[in-house]
Amino acid sequence: MSLDTGTFNEIRDLVYRHSGIALADHKQALVSSRLSKRIRILGLGGFDEYCMRLQADESGRELVLLIDAISTNVTCFFREVKHFEVLAAALRQSYAAGRRKFRIWCAASSTGEEPYSLAITARENLGEDVDVKILATDISTSVLARARQGIYENKHVEKLDREVLRRWFLRGAGKADGYFRVRPELSDIVRFGRINLARQGWPIKGPLDIIFCRNVMIYFDNGLRAMLVARFYSLLREGGILFTGHSESFSGMAGEFSKIQSSVYVK
Ligand SMILES: C[S@@+](CC[C@H](N)C(=O)[O-])C[C@H]1O[C@@H](n2cnc3c(N)ncnc32)[C@H](O)[C@@H]1O
Repeated sequence: MSLDTGTFNEIRDLVYRHSGIALADHKQALVSSRLSKRIRILGLGGFDEYCMRLQADESGRELVLLIDAISTNVTCFFREVKHFEVLAAALRQSYAAGRRKFRIWCAASSTGEEPYSLAITARENLGEDVDVKILATDISTSVLARARQGIYENKHVEKLDREVLRRWFLRGAGKADGYFRVRPELSDIVRFGRINLARQGWPIKGPLDIIFCRNVMIYFDNGLRAMLVARFYSLLREGGILFTGHSESFSGMAGEFSKIQSSVYVK
């Protein structure tokens, strides 16, 4: 099945308008291989027919599946661990200063490893007397479904500290041998929902203490990045912190934020 440049451009345009993901020219082969499977499942004749199906899909369901197929969901527990050390210190400091309510948003939560790492950090660094809630959102319905389950294969948790694993995960037995489920003490404070960062009207009420928006803005163009950084600023409380991916650059866009270290910004 071959994808010609004209059809690639149509798909690229749809992806951009729907998700803000800007696909570079060299992604044509990737798009072709990822969508071929979907086209076969749908029993369509090729990319042209698939494009027509997308344009005609008023429910938006096929578009969601398209974004699912195209986007990269790579993540892991305590990815870019320095961020969690900075977060732990900030939470402890706020707690010592008397704060007892914490609102955290994980804005591209993928399969859940990141929000559950946030929950572990919160549980381990705040007292029992706090009201802490983590909102974890993503554009992809399939990663959200997996994240809600909170079940991970051994290979996804094997790098975790043994004590952290024992304290915050339940080890499966019998048919579930080799799997780990996050304990209710974590899942109770994490709520998942679908939010498209490229759209207006997020159902989020500030002020927030912490925003993690990591390794997703790298797929967006500068206009969308700048708009997101400004919206994050307005949602954070004074002293609130924005964490972005280590490889994401915001030179000239951080506006009123103060950079406290690479990829960490405080309002
Ligand atoms: C590479 S993962 C990053 C996961 C996690 N933040 C981390 O750093 O480990 C990127 C995630 O961004 C999501 N994503 C892509 N475009 C999005 C959009 N417009 N709105 C919300 N999430 C989006 C993808 O579905 C994917 O789960």
